[in-house]
Amino acid sequence: MTDRAFQRCVSPQCGATYSVDEVRVACKCGELLDVAYDWDRLPVPKSLAHFEQYWSRRYEPLSLSGVWRFRELFPFAPDEKIVTIGEGQTLLASSPGVAAYVGIDRGSVLLQYEGMNPSGSFKDNGMSAAFSHAHMIGAERAACASTGNTSASLALYCAVTKLMKAVIFIGSGKISYGKLSQALDYGALTIQIAGDFDDAMTRVKQVSQELGIYLVNSVNPFRLEGQKSIMYRVLEGLRWDVPDWIVVPGGNLGNSSAFGKAFIELIQLGLIKRMPRLAVINAAGANTLHELYNKRGVRWGGGKANFAPICDFYDEMDAHNRRANTIASAIEINRPVNLNKCLRALEACDGVVREVSEQEIVDAKAQVGVGGFGCEPASAASVAGLKQLVEEGIIGRDERVVCILTGHQLKDPTITVGYHTTDQEQFNKVLGSRGVKRAAFANRAVAVNNDLNEIIQAIQLYS
Ligand code: F0G
Repeated sequence: MTDRAFQRCVSPQCGATYSVDEVRVACKCGELLDVAYDWDRLPVPKSLAHFEQYWSRRYEPLSLSGVWRFRELFPFAPDEKIVTIGEGQTLLASSPGVAAYVGIDRGSVLLQYEGMNPSGSFKDNGMSAAFSHAHMIGAERAACASTGNTSASLALYCAVTKLMKAVIFIGSGKISYGKLSQALDYGALTIQIAGDFDDAMTRVKQVSQELGIYLVNSVNPFRLEGQKSIMYRVLEGLRWDVPDWIVVPGGNLGNSSAFGKAFIELIQLGLIKRMPRLAVINAAGANTLHELYNKRGVRWGGGKANFAPICDFYDEMDAHNRRANTIASAIEINRPVNLNKCLRALEACDGVVREVSEQEIVDAKAQVGVGGFGCEPASAASVAGLKQLVEEGIIGRDERVVCILTGHQLKDPTITVGYHTTDQEQFNKVLGSRGVKRAAFANRAVAVNNDLNEIIQAIQLYS
């Protein structure tokens, strides 16, 4: 198995390879690594319909898993080492309400609800893959830095399987209570660093190297192999048709990178005939990709690009002590670790990048809530970005668009209640302080005395 799957540097000039048994988070040249396959020596399915046979075998954990039922498209682990907790039972659903909000045809918007994963976010797709790799190589402890969802996911895999101990690094005061409560409840060793996500990321890399702890952040190429399955399930939900657009929030840029890789491989294997376009949406308060891509013209250029503007931008950020700051705490990231892979995905998928304001995020979130299963603020960036792209005429009214809703609505109740509250002080504290001026779609609770007549009157008045 190992010789058919291997690790390879993303830089075409370097192209160094490593065995899958090696634990690395970077090439010796410093670039990111991919998991690559010698497809000529692997049994590749003839069509994507091949995967339908697994639907009737849901009693087998690997067929039930929405990640591992596609494992022929990322065959790096022997079946007996694969760890699954039932991830990937997620839903692609049409949302006429969101379509109306963004101004496109009724059936044109589909929402991919990754919040339905066991830990409530898309992270379980990648965690299942990284955790399986960690298990393959015999790791006993696994670590991550997180804005909250990766840590919740890692903590859950450790709690359920008891295969490893979780060590998580979070920025102090930087993660929502929903996510923090998960890590604590699942029993993870939780290190709160006086700093933000980027500080935690730097430290966890150092610590995991020093103590030999397995790192599960998305610099780990095996994580992204699992996240490819989100796209396989989107295709499955469309009966193997390719949508016109995939719209995804961008934080550390693991998803966008994984999605691009998934489609590049599917084209290469002859399993799809055309690429979808990709839109990656930053929060304006954490807009590194937008700055670099739209303002400084940074491109992948077949891997030969001049990446100097990236270093310049980071130096400027440091010089002015500018740090990411957004209501969408999940994507409050300064230096996205997968930037280069994301640039590659944008090139392959004729991509676009946009930034959305805090106001746009909270309004879009309210519209997802009233028109579907709900999501957390970072996820709503995808819908807010779609609205912008429709207004600009880049996405047409009749194009089929899939927005990835990355995290569950209950991850961040503070923002949701802050939006719908009647308490001006609470609104100002949670949202007003971040530049949100109004809650146009607020559904305010009606306060009544504990009196039957008053309650009946209120219901008759408002319903
Ligand atoms: N949406 C949610 C809900 C997230 O938790 C994250 C990332 C993203 C979007 C961004 O995804 O990194 O693939 O671009 N959360 C990480 C964490 C950073 O630590 O939980 P990306």
